[in-house]
Amino acid sequence: MRMVDLIQKKRDGIALTKEEIHFIIQGYTKGDIPDYQMSAFAMAVYFKDMTSQERADLTMAMVESGDQIDLSMIEGIKVDKHSTGGVGDTTTLVLGPLVASVGVPVAKMSGRGLGHTGGTIDKLEAVEGFNVEITNEQFVSLVNQHKLAVIGQSGNLTPADKKLYALRDVTATVNTVPLIASSIMSKKIAAGADAIVLDVKTGAGAFMKDLEDAKVLAKAMVEIGNNVGRKTMAIISDMSQPLGFAIGNALEVKEAIDTLQGKGPKDLEELCLVLGSQMVCLAEKASTIEEARELLIQSMQSGQALASFKTFLRNQGGDETVVDDPTKLPTATYIIELTADKEGYVSEIIADEIGTAAMKLGAGRATKESEIDLAVGLELNKKIGDRVQVGDSLVTIHSNQEDIQEIMESIRTAIKLVDHPVAAPTLIYETIDA
Ligand code: URA
Ligand code: CA
Repeated sequence: MRMVDLIQKKRDGIALTKEEIHFIIQGYTKGDIPDYQMSAFAMAVYFKDMTSQERADLTMAMVESGDQIDLSMIEGIKVDKHSTGGVGDTTTLVLGPLVASVGVPVAKMSGRGLGHTGGTIDKLEAVEGFNVEITNEQFVSLVNQHKLAVIGQSGNLTPADKKLYALRDVTATVNTVPLIASSIMSKKIAAGADAIVLDVKTGAGAFMKDLEDAKVLAKAMVEIGNNVGRKTMAIISDMSQPLGFAIGNALEVKEAIDTLQGKGPKDLEELCLVLGSQMVCLAEKASTIEEARELLIQSMQSGQALASFKTFLRNQGGDETVVDDPTKLPTATYIIELTADKEGYVSEIIADEIGTAAMKLGAGRATKESEIDLAVGLELNKKIGDRVQVGDSLVTIHSNQEDIQEIMESIRTAIKLVDHPVAAPTLIYETIDA
């Protein structure tokens, strides 16, 4: 087989076979196929797309390019959740303990990464002592006994995707459904999940800004998952404004604690119930979505969900007493209210800009080398649709820097006020399953 012939075949719109796709991915991972040929191939895919079969084959070729996590020692159906990413998305912190509390095994492999705030591990490290450096044996045993554990990313997962994603980034070939869908799904599958719930975000703060684009991506991922034998479904949810109130690491842990007791922001709670119900059904712990939702609500009301979070923190060395006393979480030196200088209704909260402001305060990493400040971040006091009077606090800023004039100005410009009532945005647009 020659790469040039396969590039030509794709350029001419002819579907590649499984063997051909494996040849490309193996060759590229090993370094036998150079970047310039892979770039041409990615561009051909951009223009000619891939069939369902090709997308499934590409996903599995990337899965097989590296290590695969074996969760077979864990009893039950392991369900993973993936979000395409947004601002202040606290769902993972809530969903883990929430679904574990009704018997769904959650074996979470998580990372740190770049972004507006830290990753799930960074957030959890706001809890004194919390440790993800556990052995695989400990990980398996914790999930078997307590249904929930988090371990740091280890092993060499989907090296083909790492290399190809970096190449796509500099060749204008990121934004194409077959490559995005296979990239995301390969990572989830290599991490060992039996079933996958996808939270595909849409709106100004999301990767897929447009609802129709989000649907196309969601359908593509659901199709790949089911074609390769992992039950997969997707929810399309709103990211036209940040989710919940808190954006920042310790602040989101506090928000998760509130939400696990049914005292959190309503949008975050609702999204967690919707995603959680799907996870419970895929894990076969309930036979209908309504039944699953009822189980989760009862667990929040009875304190079972919160207890599951405490146990999880204690199991991994964390100070579980923060759950009853969140003032033990890291706190910032300066608490500053950003107040409204005119009255009206909130019509927009530009999520990207709010996220960037949180990052500038130190809540997230701009580069791999940046240090995160776990204490800092933002709390939104108003959301889209809310009425605002002059002097009302729009945002509470938690900062360890004294002079944040510029950051405050950028937050102020990111929150638009108009003089007529505005409807709150729809939270859940659609459910997509096989
Ligand atoms: N996120 C990924 O992991 N891969 C893509 O290709 C795009 C977004
Ligand atoms: Ca949040």
